[in-house]
Amino acid sequence: MFSKEFLDESSALKKKWEDEVKKTVAKHGDQKEKWTTVSDLEIKRIYGPDDLKDMDFAQDIGYPGQFPFLRGNQATGYRGKYWTFRMFSGMGTAVETNKRWHYLLSTGQTGLSTAFDFPTLMGYDSDSPKAKGECGKCGVAIDTIEDFKDLINGIPLDRISTSMTINPPATVLWAMYCAAAEMQGVPLAKISGTIQNDMLKEFIAQKTLMCPPEPSVKLISDTIEFGTKFVPRWNTVSISGYHIREAGSTAVQELAFTLRDGMEYVEDVIRRKGLQVDEFAPRLSFFFNAHIDFFEEIAKLRAARRIWAKAMRDRFGAKDPRSWWMRFHTQTAGCSLTAQQPYNNVIRTAVEALAAVMGGTQSLHTNSLDEVLCLPSEHAVQIALRTQQIIAEETGVANTIDPLAGSYFVESLTNEMEEKAWAYIHKIDEMGGMIAAIEKGYPQMEISDAAYKFQRQIDAREKVMIGVNKYGEENEETDIPLVEIDESVEAEQLKRLAKVKRKRDDRMVAKCLKDIAASCKKGDNVMPSCIEAVKNYATVQEICDVYREVYGEYRDPGIF
Ligand code: 3HC
Repeated sequence: MFSKEFLDESSALKKKWEDEVKKTVAKHGDQKEKWTTVSDLEIKRIYGPDDLKDMDFAQDIGYPGQFPFLRGNQATGYRGKYWTFRMFSGMGTAVETNKRWHYLLSTGQTGLSTAFDFPTLMGYDSDSPKAKGECGKCGVAIDTIEDFKDLINGIPLDRISTSMTINPPATVLWAMYCAAAEMQGVPLAKISGTIQNDMLKEFIAQKTLMCPPEPSVKLISDTIEFGTKFVPRWNTVSISGYHIREAGSTAVQELAFTLRDGMEYVEDVIRRKGLQVDEFAPRLSFFFNAHIDFFEEIAKLRAARRIWAKAMRDRFGAKDPRSWWMRFHTQTAGCSLTAQQPYNNVIRTAVEALAAVMGGTQSLHTNSLDEVLCLPSEHAVQIALRTQQIIAEETGVANTIDPLAGSYFVESLTNEMEEKAWAYIHKIDEMGGMIAAIEKGYPQMEISDAAYKFQRQIDAREKVMIGVNKYGEENEETDIPLVEIDESVEAEQLKRLAKVKRKRDDRMVAKCLKDIAASCKKGDNVMPSCIEAVKNYATVQEICDVYREVYGEYRDPGIF
């Protein structure tokens, strides 16, 4: 990238600087020995042209909308469209969540994102004994399509994209969305949105588990095939690094394991469904964490685009540039929030959101200051959304594309993260792929080691969390209003579910469930029979129980 003369001249100047540093450190010393990122990546005192001497501008950096897409997928960047302001939200019954959704849309949100309650996430109905006390608590309770119709009431599904954070029961909730859209008169070809539907990260980190890895991946390939054929604007999987990071991984592990998960899904769809990679790859999407180490997060997101572009073109032979795009949602780091001095969380979230934007995110959720204590209050979620709007409209960072490109530090850090991520990816290749690696416990152990090391550093105050291990307040009083989900929600939901069960045709439901079982046993795509079943008011658990019956239930070996 630089001429020999330029490099010679800059190294002479660097030598002078090094001498000055030696003198000053001898006199004044440094505040600390090691300067590292939150993931413990050592950072040099300075970066300069010599750190980029092997870079080739066209190969390694380029322009937005051009391979390797380091600087973004879209030629016009945020000038064409800001990232989607997409706040993760859901609580109580579908009616209550629908109210919060309308509030968020009325105050500037531009995309929806569904948080489900724990029974729904795990494939149980509100009337299951396993659901006792959890109904509507950490998200919206959805049992049947009746709830779903209330959830999307008044939402124009042909104009708003909806994300659903759902994993083991993803086929069921997506079937409800498809059926509800059709009932709203919106054809499947017009609806847009995303289902998270990424079970590999569940085995690695989040642990909302149901069936073993192999059949779980088969169900995901069913959705990808169905989406490719019938729901072309739907992103059928959101390959997630967020939860891997929340489990305590380093930034490089988050990057590597997420991308390798993505490669596993691509391999499975090609092998199992015989689709060409360009038929479905443009609709694969990703989901990353935006943690507190500003530059590490920007470098991670830029590296993600370049790795994915190379993998899709060179490893899978994709020819369509849209197959090379790495499109992702970002959520600011829940694990960086503190219960101590919770107002500090506004600042953390703002820095993390800025990193996500400087890293080129397509969609963003900003955490609310109270999310470490409870579901977000309306006031807290407004501050979180305003954070995005201020970054978009006041700070100027959206004026120009990928503003840190060419930075000696950021390009070096991006290169370093890419290199370290590829090392992990090749190691998992050697193990026989991600499912094999998960069965060996490899990613789990790597994360567990990183999490343990980080906690030791916090305990030893080698890493600082303001308010937690530095500048703490004795007998701190929290004046944050805590949102509580009233116990009456459960009673209300049980009433709704009982009413649907009374009204429906049980024989028809039984037939539909049998059809799903037959599809599973024959290896057919389950989506058509799932849509038929939910239209006949089959519940989330009734369908998931068919999966449990046919595929068996997975017991986590408890490696981590
Ligand atoms: N010029 C022209 N067109 C542009 C443009 C520009 N500058 N910028 C964007 N566009 C186009 C895009 O190409 C796209 O067109 P398409 O409809 O033909 O694809 C359209 O505008 C929409 O733009 P994006 O696709 O960039 O943005 P979306 O918001 O629609 O999609 C996504 C983003 C990442 C691809 C999608 O998968 C998404 O929304 N994901 C969200 C996932 C999510 O919300 N997850 C929450 C999880 S919460 C969780 O798990 C945590 C909990 O467990 C604790």
